[in-house]
Amino acid sequence: MPKNLLTLKELSSTELASIIDYAIELKKKYKRGERPELMKNKTLVMLFQKTSTRTRTSFEAGATQLGGHAIFLDWTTTQFKLGDIKDEARCIDRYADIVMARVLRHSDLLKMAEVMEKPLINGLCEKYHPCQTIADLQTMQEHLGSLKGKKAVYLGIANNVSNTLSLGCVKMGMHFTLCVPERHPISLDEGLLKEVKASGLYAEEKDPQKAVLDADVLYTDAWIDMELYLDPKFKDEKERRLKTFMPYQLGKGLLDLNKKALIMHDLPAHRGFEIDDYAMNAGKSVIFDQAENRLHAQKAILVKLCQQQL
Ligand code: CP
Repeated sequence: MPKNLLTLKELSSTELASIIDYAIELKKKYKRGERPELMKNKTLVMLFQKTSTRTRTSFEAGATQLGGHAIFLDWTTTQFKLGDIKDEARCIDRYADIVMARVLRHSDLLKMAEVMEKPLINGLCEKYHPCQTIADLQTMQEHLGSLKGKKAVYLGIANNVSNTLSLGCVKMGMHFTLCVPERHPISLDEGLLKEVKASGLYAEEKDPQKAVLDADVLYTDAWIDMELYLDPKFKDEKERRLKTFMPYQLGKGLLDLNKKALIMHDLPAHRGFEIDDYAMNAGKSVIFDQAENRLHAQKAILVKLCQQQL
């Protein structure tokens, strides 16, 4: 197991599979009322440059359930806002047993990782969302059984979520099809794209009506970054994107073409844009199982990475 989880590239297929299996095992234990104290006396520090509901709450609840403690640090109300990121990271490294950070730019995570001895987890950046992908794969495995040979289709904008999802899927032997009209420029990782293409399991299809036909999983994500959604300066670009992306909406029109696929979204959703109410509420929607699994996936990640420190 690597020391840090920054991109998902650092996990071998075997390591990724073992985290998913462990998340499923921890979930079963939790449902049986078992509370193994696998983080007893350990502290997780969580640093956020951006807002969060699921990532923050699931990491914090996860640390509690494992007998540990989580500290929430808001970038804007700590000296991270004012001081040198490496100096601040060196300090929290001396207090924490493990650190999770959500940042605007991956380069900030790399600066932290450079000076830290404790494990560092990426809680989302502009290029990757590895913890989300682990919970997504857990959800797929719970509903589909073995993932090998199954097919996931991602609709919408190519971004941090689709990057790590494509990598996670091909690592698990799944087929992955990207069905997007555009890529979010700051999310592009040529190296990752080369890696998924080399797997022979990755495809691109521009026509959403063709793409969805034989999918086992249909997945979408917001077309616009959360922080820009309500920004008046982004109004024209928002309107342009809504026109461009509407044919890719995960909604009744596309779902009539495939009634067997699981429907997935990492949330928060913009209902009526990338997904409609019909898809959110459909019988094959596992969106809230996905959200629940963030909790168990985070616990599996925390335990596996903390074990490296023993
Ligand atoms: N999916 C996800 O990361 O949710 P939050 O932004 O609420 O953490």
